Amino acid sequence: KRPDGIIIALDGPAGSGKSSTARAVAARLGYRHLDSGGFYRAITYAALRAGIDPDSWGSLTHAQLDTLDVHGHATETGYRMTVGGRDVSAEIRAPEVNAHVSQMAAVAGVREWLMDALREAGARGGLVADGRDIGTVVFPDAELKAYLICDPEERALRRLREQGADDLSTEHVRAEAARLQGRDQIDSSREAAPLRQADDAVVIDTTQLTFDEQVARIEGLARERAGID
Ligand code: DC
Repeated sequence: KRPDGIIIALDGPAGSGKSSTARAVAARLGYRHLDSGGFYRAITYAALRAGIDPDSWGSLTHAQLDTLDVHGHATETGYRMTVGGRDVSAEIRAPEVNAHVSQMAAVAGVREWLMDALREAGARGGLVADGRDIGTVVFPDAELKAYLICDPEERALRRLREQGADDLSTEHVRAEAARLQGRDQIDSSREAAPLRQADDAVVIDTTQLTFDEQVARIEGLARERAGID
């Protein structure tokens, strides 16, 4: 039994609303939110900034990764990412990082290097972690696993709205949907810990759900599994 509560694993494709849902569920339960994508993003940002050629990322050693000085610091509500001691919360959402992060996340050595940090974050429980392989690889013994799916065009629309885009024309939405699907394709077809639904995950299709509905559904399941009301 974990001292601080259960572990909730939220997996699913890009733009399915995992992170914002995970953050909200964590806030309601008084748990910490672990955005595992943020770690892959911070490593990607650090490697780009260090001028390491993306074509050579596949052979990054653990020692090289150590020198990138990427850390996640536990806060009251989640984790704050730093590179070289500097907060990079904004930088890791930049288009350049979006464009390269799938390539970094496909490197088996990078995933292995990260595993200790992610597992340590879950050691006491009381955690809502979101990503692609949380329920399958990182926390296979999580008490609750949810796999969020959503229609690609709806995902694209939500993402564009979130970014405050002015152009929500069909053409623009379709282009964004194609980009998201391109990332899903890379994330699902890679050899190292591909995006995959855990056998014991609850599948939640959020296409027709409002944000509050999807948060409430997961919160309800979590309270049931944790035995709290
Ligand atoms: O969720 P996100 O968009 O921040 O994820 C960024 C990238 O990291 C995405 O290409 C998938 C990858 N990722 C992963 O491979 N495993 C995780 N647990 C989380 C993210």
